[in-house]
Amino acid sequence: MNLTMNLNQQFNFIRQSPTVALTDRIAALKTSGRTIIPLQVGDPDFETPPSVVDVAIKAIQSGLTHYAPSQGLPDLRQAVVSKLTRDNDLTYDPASEILVTHGGIHAYYLALQSILNPGDEVLIPDPTWPTHANMVTMLRGNVVRVPALAENRFIPPIDSWGKALTPKTRLIVLNYPSNPTGAYPSREYLSRLQDFAAANNLWIVSDEVYENLYYNEKPTSVGTFPGAKERTVLVFSLSKTYAMTGWRIGYLVAPAQIIENALKASQNSITCVAPFVQKAAAFALTNPGVQASAAEMRDSYNRRRSLVMQVAAEYKRGKVRLTPPMGAFYFFLDFRSLRMPSTEICERLLIETGVGLVPGSAFGNEGDGFARMTIAASDTELESGFRKIMDWVERQ
Ligand SMILES: Cc1ncc(COP(=O)(O)O)c(C=O)c1O
Repeated sequence: MNLTMNLNQQFNFIRQSPTVALTDRIAALKTSGRTIIPLQVGDPDFETPPSVVDVAIKAIQSGLTHYAPSQGLPDLRQAVVSKLTRDNDLTYDPASEILVTHGGIHAYYLALQSILNPGDEVLIPDPTWPTHANMVTMLRGNVVRVPALAENRFIPPIDSWGKALTPKTRLIVLNYPSNPTGAYPSREYLSRLQDFAAANNLWIVSDEVYENLYYNEKPTSVGTFPGAKERTVLVFSLSKTYAMTGWRIGYLVAPAQIIENALKASQNSITCVAPFVQKAAAFALTNPGVQASAAEMRDSYNRRRSLVMQVAAEYKRGKVRLTPPMGAFYFFLDFRSLRMPSTEICERLLIETGVGLVPGSAFGNEGDGFARMTIAASDTELESGFRKIMDWVERQ
């Protein structure tokens, strides 16, 4: 008998991560001697603040190298709760409403696993980070895309949620500020969406890992509205805010019944997050010096965002449309006037100019014709890479 027939067929519906595939391809091009400007990455180009590193090293030296409680160290859960009060105006119980996770991606996975039954429908904006949809598929849910078009500032019109609703709809996935568009909606919009979720008995899972990277008014957490708490699950991470992507730490904030399910799932799959990483995370979330470093990183992204807009102003209008992102650290460049699929645009840019971008179609059908460019790169790389892109577009 052919054993491959006995595998989980659900994975046939999931494409390999386009960013990972691109990173592999760029590594191969570099080995063959090409110089590549990697503007496809989603990883801060800053170092983790040294004081955070020191806390982790001291924790290892003091013997924090064994199993930790699966829900997370009590002092980290307390630090999370203090941060939620300080930054998000949210009140949660560290004993029953917080779970420490292996990054934001794991928090998101646990949230879905805690809620979904096979065949449940999940409303997800298009475009969005590919994992938002892939996880639903892995868990045998059905993804229903809600268009978030550039013409609507990448926010689905409020009535489009209702149009996508069926009796099988179980939850809404949000990600603001958004990867890849950087968009986030107004307080009023989020309040109306909460009313919609309440009226239709839906959960909201909100991925807020880019919460601290904003260049306009501070984004509001969707959990802050009256009555929201009982139906809202929040996903947070230290990765982007503190340049800690490799540490693998985040947290889930949710009603106690969700945390109970998520804890069972986490306990029976990863046991716990490394305790010395948890100590460093508690320090990062509460230490004023680290908060200042995070603010400095945000200022740098903001400066680079302006740099891109300044360079763009030197070029003819029309061929590439660019909306300055409200948050996160990406530009979602609009190449639709070239009338080429975004995979072709990115492939040609990579080969002809040596600049790496992520095709917009990786984020959903509505992303086709766009490409994601990071601003988590040095000023020099960003400016030279962006000029190469703009010069290439002029030649088309
Ligand atoms: C929107 C979004 N959510 C979650 C994550 C996962 O972050 P991490 O698992 O590193 O915390 C990412 C990473 O790129 C992301 O872009």
